[in-house]
Amino acid sequence: MRLKNKVALLTGAAAAIKGELMGFGGATAHLFVREGAKVVLTDILDEMGERAAVTLREQGAEAIYLHLDVTSKTDWVHAIDATLDAFGRLDILFNNAGISYPVKVEDLTEEMWDSELAVHAKGAYLGTKTAIPAMRQGGGGTIINTSSVMGIVGSPTSPAYSAAKGAIRTFTKTTALQYAKENIRVNSIHPGYATTPLTQERFSSPEVNKMLLDRTPMGRLGTAEDIANGVLFLASDESSWMTGAELVIDGGMTAQ
Ligand SMILES: NC(=O)c1ccc[n+]([C@@H]2O[C@H](COP(=O)([O-])OP(=O)(O)OC[C@H]3O[C@@H](n4cnc5c(N)ncnc54)[C@H](O)[C@@H]3O)[C@@H](O)[C@H]2O)c1
Repeated sequence: MRLKNKVALLTGAAAAIKGELMGFGGATAHLFVREGAKVVLTDILDEMGERAAVTLREQGAEAIYLHLDVTSKTDWVHAIDATLDAFGRLDILFNNAGISYPVKVEDLTEEMWDSELAVHAKGAYLGTKTAIPAMRQGGGGTIINTSSVMGIVGSPTSPAYSAAKGAIRTFTKTTALQYAKENIRVNSIHPGYATTPLTQERFSSPEVNKMLLDRTPMGRLGTAEDIANGVLFLASDESSWMTGAELVIDGGMTAQ
């Protein structure tokens, strides 16, 4: 019960159905519930998100699903209001929604660039901005932003993704400094290559799979649960003296 009585909002968390491949948001929602939290799953995949919330409730969890396009300020205001209406407080925000366009710079369109920056960087900014007043009302909180190893080192495949994840990395540190005195902690996680609904198709191609394994010293791809365990630590009071930090979970990739 490491999150007893805490309320958490997770973005990009529709893939949370037991028995199906989960994303980081989905696997994290299950761990949060196991540890006593009430969870608000959000995404733009409404049918899947609603089904996920139903399956969580069937297991006895207090869970709801809300539509939240992280690039929309209106959606954010609605989601935070709805969270407070449903559960009365907000303690944990997991800014996790993501997209990816693996192309070379010359093939990267302005639309791809803008949407990568919008979902990742603007999404984390809007979420943080909207959640902070609700956290302050409850005496503090913890925000975990999903960056990537590609927010630390260059990506061989995805320029806009890497730029957006780098933005999240330093935005996290600045926000951490601004709210440290208010008991609002802000940290980033930096996953390496992991199989999720976002990556499953691309990562299962034999050449891509070989390239990823060659780059990963531990010789296996990550799972959503590998990442969720780190998010749980950052969400819990066990990390109570951590803010502005980077938690790398990558099978050794960035140690090279
Ligand atoms: N899988 C990896 O190897 C890996 C590695 C490093 C970082 N990440 C990051 O982890 C996060 C979660 O990805 P995942 O791999 O668990 O896959 P996932 O498919 O479970 O998560 C991505 C989710 O984001 C949602 N989403 C996309 N655009 C959105 C928007 N505008 N508003 C709200 N939701 C939106 C998608 O519908 C999807 O459910 C992403 O930020 C991703 O970039 C993934």
